[in-house]
Amino acid sequence: MVNVLVTGGAGFIGSNFVRYALDRHHDWRVTTLDKLTYAGRLENLQGVMEHPRHEFVKGDVADPGVAAPLAAAADVIVHFAAETHVDRAIMSAGEFITTDVYGTFVLLEAALQNPRLRRFVQISTDEVYGSISEGASLETDELKPRNPYSASKAGADRLAYSYWATYQVPVIITRASNNYGPYQFPEKIIPLFITNAIDDKPLPLYGDGLNERDWLHVGDHCRAIELLIDRGYPGEVYNVGGGNHVRNADLTRRILQLVGKPETLIQPVADRPGHDRRYSLDTSKLQAIGWHPQVPFEQGLDDTVSWYRRNEQWWRTIKDQDPEFRKYYERQYGGSAS
Ligand code: NAD
Ligand code: TYD
Repeated sequence: MVNVLVTGGAGFIGSNFVRYALDRHHDWRVTTLDKLTYAGRLENLQGVMEHPRHEFVKGDVADPGVAAPLAAAADVIVHFAAETHVDRAIMSAGEFITTDVYGTFVLLEAALQNPRLRRFVQISTDEVYGSISEGASLETDELKPRNPYSASKAGADRLAYSYWATYQVPVIITRASNNYGPYQFPEKIIPLFITNAIDDKPLPLYGDGLNERDWLHVGDHCRAIELLIDRGYPGEVYNVGGGNHVRNADLTRRILQLVGKPETLIQPVADRPGHDRRYSLDTSKLQAIGWHPQVPFEQGLDDTVSWYRRNEQWWRTIKDQDPEFRKYYERQYGGSAS
């Protein structure tokens, strides 16, 4: 059996990966380590909590008492655990440093004590390149993060690399573009706008709405990680992008069309401070080892809208019942989008 430790496995991408991994690899035993922050939810792991090859451990990746024994028993580590929302980082960055940077350090230190570790996959992000006005970022490009989230991720990205360069911990770094799909916490633009539209609430579009993101279906991201565990080279960085470059205003209109709601729901609001204008990735390095995105954006977005329609209970528990979310929403959007 291959022991796979997944940190942050109760979050959006992590839970999709845990489900995918258990389904695809019958010789993998998966341990999920997750602190269950506001973004981590056991409901995201529904259907696999009782799986005979899956164990869930509640704990902090930055706590060596929890993280070290799990890392010591792993053949593969996939490190998703992080604070992930740019707007929350702008409000308060402390947790981003303790989890994204220090937590990664703790896990790397633990990995260093495990001579049989085959892969340490550091889940980084395209946001570490910063905003690029044209062209596509290459893995060799300079990192120019511009907000506390992307800066903490850049720190973790380079820290992970340093454990390869210095100690030969078999680190692989992925830099994925914006993900979308089922179980995404409804603070990020796609699930927030789908669920606000369903409820006829305003869709708070930042600034002029012309900021551009490259959308990647979470299933395509999971397939990329799977391939890299098998065929990626330690010490290397791999961009993972869907190649779907969409401006926020166009994305918003597409969501409204799919939900069947009028464009009058679009509510222009003040811009995000330091808002990165555009991300775009060159993915030829990953494509050269056999990965290609499989989910066309139109199809993926349509499926995602259907998922949020079918799983109202999941997001209503967060949006309508969780006081933490209501407080965050009020603080972020004030009266402008309620
Ligand atoms: P998410 O916010 O949905 O989930 C994060 C998970 O990490 C949650 O389950 C949370 O409880 C857990 N966590 C947070 N702090 C922890 C700690 N100290 N110890 C243990 N667990 C902790 O995030 P996501 O969107 O699934 O992102 C997962 C990873 O992918 C992150 O590293 C993120 O930077 C990266 N990434 C995300 C995107 C995207 O578009 N969502 C794109 C590129 C890269
Ligand atoms: P988000 O989903 O927060 O991801 P990221 O900041 O990591 O790219 O935001 C995606 C884009 O959508 C980004 O340009 C900011 C914009 N946005 C809005 O216009 N309104 C919103 O309410 C949110 C959450 C995001």
